[in-house]
Parts: sequence; structure tokens; C-alpha cells
Amino acid sequence: MNVHSAVDSPVLTGTTLRRLAFANRFSVAPMTRISATAEGVPTERMVRYYERFPKGGFSLLTTEGIYTDKAYAQTYRGQPGLTDPEQAEGWKTVVDAVHAAGGRIFAQLMHGGALAQGNRFRSDTVGPSSLQPRGQQMVSYHGEGLYAVPREMDEVDIAEAISGFAQAARLAIDVAGFDGIEIHGANGYLLDQFFTDYTNRRQDRWGGDIGKRLNLSLAVLEAVRGAVGNAVPVGIRLSQGKVNDLKHKWTEGEEGAAVVFKAVAESSADFVHLTEFEAWQPAFSDDGKSLVALARQHAPDLFVIANGGLHELTRAEQVLEAGADMIALGRGALTNPDWPRIAAEKREARPLQLEMLAPISDIKDTELRY
Ligand SMILES: Cc1cc2nc3c(=O)[nH]c(=O)nc-3n(C[C@H](O)[C@H](O)[C@H](O)COP(=O)(O)O)c2cc1C
Repeated sequence: MNVHSAVDSPVLTGTTLRRLAFANRFSVAPMTRISATAEGVPTERMVRYYERFPKGGFSLLTTEGIYTDKAYAQTYRGQPGLTDPEQAEGWKTVVDAVHAAGGRIFAQLMHGGALAQGNRFRSDTVGPSSLQPRGQQMVSYHGEGLYAVPREMDEVDIAEAISGFAQAARLAIDVAGFDGIEIHGANGYLLDQFFTDYTNRRQDRWGGDIGKRLNLSLAVLEAVRGAVGNAVPVGIRLSQGKVNDLKHKWTEGEEGAAVVFKAVAESSADFVHLTEFEAWQPAFSDDGKSLVALARQHAPDLFVIANGGLHELTRAEQVLEAGADMIALGRGALTNPDWPRIAAEKREARPLQLEMLAPISDIKDTELRY
């Protein structure tokens, strides 16, 4: 960390997103920690885990991916849901604790699709096309071996998935009191499966060129917007890499990115959350623009949250300079739940330590001590 630039770092300046004011540009990235009850209800342990981040100075938190229906959305055993009042009331205790500590919190809504590896409601999986997913199930989330081959979704399945997102968003705002909604369109899960050329071979309105492959994400965005109204910040997370294909690049390159960001700009989204392995790197060629810079170019009015290797102040500043409005830290926040305070006080951050994620990625007692 460059301690000398901390005092007047732009990362420590305030900003706004719709009616929400943030004291600084630090947010916590969504991180699945499978610490809910078997019924998907958030626990006291999760309350204690989440409230450490606003206490440490993070102005915004995005929750772990929350499943959205009692059909095919649940992805991991121990994952929390937002599908009934009991789960929503559980989230309210998390949200209240974050608000009491002065923070804001967005719910990340997620459908696992073909990467579901622990769904208590179904023993099979669904996806855009019936193709074997790449890679192996995640062992630290109780997985083992290959992913199942999904059943190809029909119109009824697709309508059910869309309405699951909308209903979960309504519970998130009306019952739990979240400050905004992030739709998980990234990292290889259902919406990204529709978006990705090699997992979506459909020839109907949900498949085809990159614009058409974005149609399900856009339909979910509009359904969520319809459910929560115009005042609530709504956005979508997008990535190139996936949990089961870390180095994937959008085949259509910068031209494809232009199509994507223009479409999101024209939708009712307020923000886009971009995650790359290293957010400052050129997205496609050795000397091209980063995904953040491309979003800023093609969607000048969108609020951009940037994530990926930004737990160095100088890197975070570089990405703000390239066009981001907010920085999200994943591993850096796990190791330093007080990262913004450390930056403001010009102290040295702890180097990444991720032993809390092994052998299973649930929340550990040791984390709750700091
Ligand atoms: C333990 C863990 C769980 C994660 N779970 C999610 C998740 O639920 N949703 C999501 O969009 N990304 C998830 N991610 C990805 C992070 O949000 C982030 O993109 C990644 O850690 C890279 O950012 P970093 O370099 O700041 O760590 C997870 C990452 C980690 C380390």
C-alpha cells in the first residue's frame, strides 16, 4: 500500500448513488460463506460477520449471492435465501446491524443454473443448453467431482427464474430493508451461462449474438426494477472469468463490450459491478482499455463498481481514475475488515491471509475476533 497518498486519496472521498450517500469509495465484494441455517435463514454468526465491515469503515457492502427461488436457484448447501418471510426477517437482522454501524448494504441475488451443487429443493440442474459444464464442483462449498449435465430450460423454467429474482428483490426491500439490489450476472452462474457463447447454444430469443445472449439478464433487470420501483438502486454484476473457467474472455472483444455496456446503459440499471482478476489490466488485448474504462466510455451515466486485486491503494486509485465510482474488495476485506480505517490512518494493511476459507468456506470464530 502506498501510505503517502492515503490522506488525500480520492478513494477516501464521498460519492452518491441515487439518494444514497457514501462517505468513501470502499465497498465489500460479495462473498459466499455458506453459514445460513439448513433452511437458508441468516444466522447470528452472519450478523456478527457483516457488521464488522461498516465498523471498519466500509461505506457499502454487497452480500454473498442469495438464492432467489425454491426451484433451481440454490447453488450451495448452507447458502442463505430470500424466498420467504422467515429468510427475509433473518436478513433484516443483518441489515439493521449494518445500518446501526453506519453502513449501507445491497443484496446480491443469484441463481446457480448448471453450477448448482447443493440445492435442497431439486436433485437435478437446469441451464440454457444441456451441456456438461467445464471444471469441477467446489470442494470448499461441499462439492465433489464433475457438475451434473443440466436440463435445457423451457419458457416455463425461464419465467419461473425471472419471477424468482423479482420476488426476492421485493422481499429484500420491503421486509429486510436492503439499500439496493445487485443481480448476479457474473462468474459462471445462470445469467452468465446464458451470456456465454459456449454454454448457450439456443436459437430462440434467449440465444444468438452477444446482445441476444444478454436478453435474460436484461429481462431480470426489468423484472426487478418493476418489483422495487424507481427509487431503489438496482444493478448487475458482470465478469469475464467464471468460477469454473477463470481465464475466459468475451469472444467478441471490445466490440462486444460496447454492445453490452450500451444495453445496460439503456436499461433501468443504476450501476454495473465489474469483476476482473486484476481490474486495471486491459480487458482483451495487451494494450487495450480495461473493462472499467470501456464501461465508462459506453455507459457514461452508469455508476461503476470495480473489483479485482484492488487491495493496494495505488491500484484502487488507478481504477477510480479509469472511471470507477466505487471499489470493491473481496480477499482484502476478509483479511482486513477495517481496510478503510487502515488506509485513512496510513497504517500498513495485513497481507492477504485466507486460511479462514479452508477446508470449508464457512465463517470462522477466528474472523469474528477482529
Ligand atoms: C470466499 C469467496 C466467496 C465469493 N463468493 C462470491 C459470491 O457469492 N458472489 C460473487 O459475485 N462473487 C463472489 N466471490 C468473488 C469476489 O466477489 C471477488 O470478485 C473476488 O474475490 C476477487 O476480488 P478480490 O481480488 O478483491 O478478492 C467470492 C470470492 C471469495 C474469495
